[in-house]
Amino acid sequence: MAGTGTALGASVERREGRLKVTGTARYAAEHPLPGRAQAWPVPAAVARGRVTLVDASAALRLPGVLAVLTHENAPRIAEPEDAALAVLQNPQVPHRGWFVALVVAESLEEARAGAQAVRVEYAAEDFDVTVRPGHPDGYEPETVNGGYPGRREHGHPDSAFGEAPVRVDVTVRVPPLHNHPMEPHTSTARWDGDRLTVYTSSQGGTEVRRTLAALFELPAEQITVVAEHVGGGFGSKGTPRPDVVLATMAAKVTGRPVTVALARRYLPAAVGHRAPTLQRLRLGAGPDGRLTALSHEATTHTSRITEFVEQAAVPSRVMYAAPNSLTTHQVVPLDVPSPSWMRAPGECPGMYALESAVDELASELGMDPVELRVRNEPDREPDTGKPFSSRHVVECLREGARRFGWERRDPRPRSRSEGPLLVGTGVAAATYPVLVWPSTAEARALPDGTFVVRVNATDIGTGARTVLTQIAADALGVPLERVHTEVGNSDLPAASLAGGSSGTASWGWPVHRACTRLAARLAEHAGPPPGKGLSARADTAGEADAESSYARHAFGAHFAEVTVDTVTGEVRVRRLLGVFAAGRILNARTARSQFVGGMTMGLGMALTEGSTLDPAFGDFVERDLASYHVPAHADVPAIEAHWIEESDGHLNPMGSKGIGEIGIVGTAAAIGNAVHHATGVRFRELPLTPDRVL
Ligand code: MOS
Repeated sequence: MAGTGTALGASVERREGRLKVTGTARYAAEHPLPGRAQAWPVPAAVARGRVTLVDASAALRLPGVLAVLTHENAPRIAEPEDAALAVLQNPQVPHRGWFVALVVAESLEEARAGAQAVRVEYAAEDFDVTVRPGHPDGYEPETVNGGYPGRREHGHPDSAFGEAPVRVDVTVRVPPLHNHPMEPHTSTARWDGDRLTVYTSSQGGTEVRRTLAALFELPAEQITVVAEHVGGGFGSKGTPRPDVVLATMAAKVTGRPVTVALARRYLPAAVGHRAPTLQRLRLGAGPDGRLTALSHEATTHTSRITEFVEQAAVPSRVMYAAPNSLTTHQVVPLDVPSPSWMRAPGECPGMYALESAVDELASELGMDPVELRVRNEPDREPDTGKPFSSRHVVECLREGARRFGWERRDPRPRSRSEGPLLVGTGVAAATYPVLVWPSTAEARALPDGTFVVRVNATDIGTGARTVLTQIAADALGVPLERVHTEVGNSDLPAASLAGGSSGTASWGWPVHRACTRLAARLAEHAGPPPGKGLSARADTAGEADAESSYARHAFGAHFAEVTVDTVTGEVRVRRLLGVFAAGRILNARTARSQFVGGMTMGLGMALTEGSTLDPAFGDFVERDLASYHVPAHADVPAIEAHWIEESDGHLNPMGSKGIGEIGIVGTAAAIGNAVHHATGVRFRELPLTPDRVL
């Protein structure tokens, strides 16, 4: 509107950028509260069993130590929905790394020293942390993460596969993976009588408040949850974690504000992980490349205390037309930490498997992998038969191929080399569902001509408050500078969490509506708004969560060029190019960051990242950034992210789809397919580290 530079789509800088780069943005551990104490947890040293003794006497004699909380003296809390939050409530140890005590002290160093002085004895039991198909404890869950049915079957997948002239039957393995956000999980709690204030590193303060209200049996109005700046989450902060429960307990016991800032080495066991998957793909096709059978069977693990099933087979219900199909999940409860969300749960490992198998099928057929995908383009969502609200995966493939120079590719494996380097290129498609949840927002016009927009959105580094300001300014028809957006505080109108790539759609919708209403009121009202100004409020309950008659997904295509060193076995990505179709792009700068960030994380998944469950001790071996290798700058080439502007009227008033997760979906498959093209070898287990490749 009005050429103000606020138009949706503009490349607007982050509103809080200066605060962040000058170190003045406050994170959960950084609120200067008078009298604030620090706490350090004690993790269980056995993988399964029971605590028989906690001797805190030596710890309590150390300088600065204020209290040691154990299952014997910690405040009792109501039973949580997420059993991983029932910390210090009983002596059971469900997995190694489970917190069995918490030391509160004047300083971080004193708390840590105290934790080391706590003596814990256990009755240890036999344990099992190794997932495998056919495990006697395995079962087929009714539903999987995201609420999808565990199994779907159409036609006769087994016989159709048996009769198919061209077949691929492969099993791929994705290891456990961890999010490792820059800011480890941290909470600071303060009680003022029966009012609780919590500063926490979370993707959704509304949910934290709801959970704390239930656990500590408090009315939600007596709780304020502040998450103004959050240093990443990727799903690991999508639900409250033990740090917020422990900080709240410790503050209650000591009468002091208390910070629990988890050391990075405690994250792998305490904050969730992407569960490992073993996925069998069976693709059957005619000589023309048309799929006649598609089976995707995923086996994964969960903990003994929670059921979380990585929905890896679900994207195979969306991607390709196949008259006969089977998608199933098998989950095995083991003595492992509870798995949870990690960027694009389900789609990410599932599309690694599917898009690797499609590449193998292209090789079997002697067909170009782009053309094979185009040939199997469905005209409706294969599983539900619903029409797509918009689907431009073919356009993404074509546009990506053009930009990448795909037509110059010699399809023969091992056809390019440079000295000891083999060079290859690969392609994979991407998909991620469009999710949106009810939220509430308020907009106020002040007498000085400025506007305040209030919504308990969370900006986890994505640029949420910036894009919400753009949506507001656009709806109000005013320059961006006149709008101030408040997020990250549960005293603001309630909103959904920053997860499932749903944030901008979920929060932007009521922001748009409140601002549109406010603009109409201002138009009726002659002159500047009086006194406290004029305001409007909107919520999207009943609309945002209504079942759509359309299948709504974002799509994309990745192209990768890799080199494989025949002397060292090192794989390096030379080029990575993604094209996405994700509705209307609302901020070119922050959107590009999201796509590139996702692709970088996918590069890590392909080449360096992986967690190992130690069969001798339980728990994960990689517990720092020296052993869990996220890509460093030197590992990442100049990544290109492009998009096709989609006009889709079946989404929300902005016409946007989510963009936070689709960048990671398919990236690892494109890189793996490029490694095959370079070497002629199919590696079906990630990551593609030199020891595997050589
Ligand atoms: Mo994302 S795994 O929904 O935060």
